[in-house]
Amino acid sequence: MYRNFVLALLAASLLSACATSGKTNADAILDHKVDSVLKLMTLDEKIGQMVLYSSDWDVTGPSLKKGYLDDIRKGNCGNIFNAHTAAYTRKLQKIAVEESRLGIPLLFGYDVIHGHKTIFPISLGESASWDLAAIEKSARVSATEAAASGINWTFAPMCDISVEPRWGRVSEGAGEDPYLGSKIAAARVHGFQGDNLADPSTILACVKHFAAYGAPLAGRDYNTVDMSERVFLDTYLPPYKAAIDAGAMSVMSSFNELFGVPASGSKYLLTDILRTKLGFKGFVVTDYTSINEMVNHGIVANEADAGLLAVKAGVDMDMQGEVYFKYLKKQVKEGLVAGKLIDDDVRRILRVKFMLGLFKDPYLYCDEAREKREVYAPAHLDAELDVAKKSMVLLKNDSLKALPLKAGEKIAVIGELAASTRDLLGSWKAAGDWNFMKSTLDELKAFNGEANVTYAEGCKTSGEDRSGFAAAIALARRADKIVLVIGESCDWSGEATSRTSINIPGVQTELLEQLKALKKPIVVVLMNGRPLDLSKESLLANSILEVWFPGTMGGKAITQVLYGQYNPAGKLTMTFPRNLGQVPIYYYEKNTGRPIYLANPKYKSRYIDSPNDPLYPFGFGLSYTTFAYSDIKLSTNELAEKGVLRATVNVTNTGTVDGEEVVQCYVRDLVGSVTRPVKELKGFEKVAIKAGESKNVTFTITPDMLAFHRLDMTYGTEPGDYKLFIGGNSRDVKETGFVLR
Ligand code: GLC
Repeated sequence: MYRNFVLALLAASLLSACATSGKTNADAILDHKVDSVLKLMTLDEKIGQMVLYSSDWDVTGPSLKKGYLDDIRKGNCGNIFNAHTAAYTRKLQKIAVEESRLGIPLLFGYDVIHGHKTIFPISLGESASWDLAAIEKSARVSATEAAASGINWTFAPMCDISVEPRWGRVSEGAGEDPYLGSKIAAARVHGFQGDNLADPSTILACVKHFAAYGAPLAGRDYNTVDMSERVFLDTYLPPYKAAIDAGAMSVMSSFNELFGVPASGSKYLLTDILRTKLGFKGFVVTDYTSINEMVNHGIVANEADAGLLAVKAGVDMDMQGEVYFKYLKKQVKEGLVAGKLIDDDVRRILRVKFMLGLFKDPYLYCDEAREKREVYAPAHLDAELDVAKKSMVLLKNDSLKALPLKAGEKIAVIGELAASTRDLLGSWKAAGDWNFMKSTLDELKAFNGEANVTYAEGCKTSGEDRSGFAAAIALARRADKIVLVIGESCDWSGEATSRTSINIPGVQTELLEQLKALKKPIVVVLMNGRPLDLSKESLLANSILEVWFPGTMGGKAITQVLYGQYNPAGKLTMTFPRNLGQVPIYYYEKNTGRPIYLANPKYKSRYIDSPNDPLYPFGFGLSYTTFAYSDIKLSTNELAEKGVLRATVNVTNTGTVDGEEVVQCYVRDLVGSVTRPVKELKGFEKVAIKAGESKNVTFTITPDMLAFHRLDMTYGTEPGDYKLFIGGNSRDVKETGFVLR
């Protein structure tokens, strides 16, 4: 069967040599190759390319529903996800290539969100590194390991902006900010796809979840998303756009409705915005059975109509729903769906398969020798350790300076999470294996000596069982310092884990309160996948280190930060509120007509039972050293229409240890045709500064960076007065001003 291709391709490449399509030669050749295959396909085989089925992974290993194997043989299923290992994917690929009529190779997709076997910090944690090179490296290593294990498509990066800590999937994203989220989305796409999708170490990226899935009402997963078009275009769309501009060649439509229409049935989203406005050239796959779910949404009466709505909206591939498989052929025969529409869908899918090199060598990704070499390679584990350390955020280290710990100190380590390896891997642990890993406790003992490190669980991460308190307190009495590892189980993070509280669960905080009574220094190590309400813990702990779920080498990373071998420099990318009542709370709020700073003590935008400001603001993170900022120097006070403005500060490391600082630059448009945020991030730079030394940091502002959707919904700038802020977080900043002409 496969030889048909060789002939077809040969013909195509000859044909294409004389093609005069006006496209680039490479594009013209690629399109001719695709068309040469398309011409050979029956309608069944075309629809088969629009079908994506899940493999299973039984206790005994990978398995596939028997029907799916037959579907592959008949050409009725062109794509599989959740299948991995070189051996298993080779087995399935062999069936597709050698037993189906045309031998079109399978795509193999998988959720390589923050690692494949070597698991990196959860994405929200990684984003707190503000280190684009490290984030790209994380995706690069993840792609290398996944590609060595038969996977050629990842369902990442997740680009959903979110200001909803109740929503468990904030763990998979890059936080609340459009500018930072856009930079990170692009870095992740570059990491996954590299410069050449046909390179066997690169995999296809998938921009998800399109769109605005991160804004579910009440923070309840899959719930309605309802926002103005301006908020969608100016706040939620930019990271998806950045990922597409970075070359991502697939997009996943989301479960949620937006503007009253479920994303998988929204022509506005999947055609008008995605293809027409953003120029997306890849293919669209739905999220899991989201076509079928349009019946529940009440936008269609049955699955056949759901398929019709989806295919006309711009969905190319149906993930697991079997809707296209069941109804599309009849709908084409009945003239309800144009054959050309199907051809266009299939063309986009085949194009990507060609770009991946699958037609040239369908077994390109099924190399068991490479899998053995790449998975858990020492360089990969080193990279993970590096990113894990960079993701950690020092939230508190009071005058006691309980951190960094000193070697030889007797520490009592308490908390279920301290002894856990599974929780270190976070919510999307993919093919990660926690059985060979070392826990935080293991690593603390290895560093500080068994004799100096004692352990008691104290309590679980959830539930009301306090029976372990006494032993933990007794142990703590005999120690110099207490290291309490608390937070959420990794199962409390990720899909379908929305919470109505963002407190630390169970009785962990009660244990902290009882340990506080011992009047010993307490270091809290926080493992969690979302912003938490730490208003109590921030008063009880002397130090708080936010470590998220730090991945395969997380235990060693935590140890190296706690002992000061690495000076933490992470900064929050989502606001940590004082309480759930403040949510949604984010730094780019509007000023309102009665801002909090008005002299009137009562009639202004405030609460009677809480301050307005968050506990820890966006961009916040401490260091084992301190930094001082000079006043801002501007290259000009007037930014001309095509001009450039440079803002410079001098940052001094005023402490006693070398450190890194993420210097952030924000602007505020004081008057607009619509109200404007009080701050918007427009630049950041992570600088390493030795103790006692200083560095100049300069940001470049150009007019295009100040564009927004104006009152008439046109996109552009408006002349007027601006404020410009620079600081180490979104609250503590130096301020100046300029005029945009
Ligand atoms: C899930 C998730 C999506 C994931 C897909 C495949 O429901 O919403 O993020 O990529 O299904 O596992």
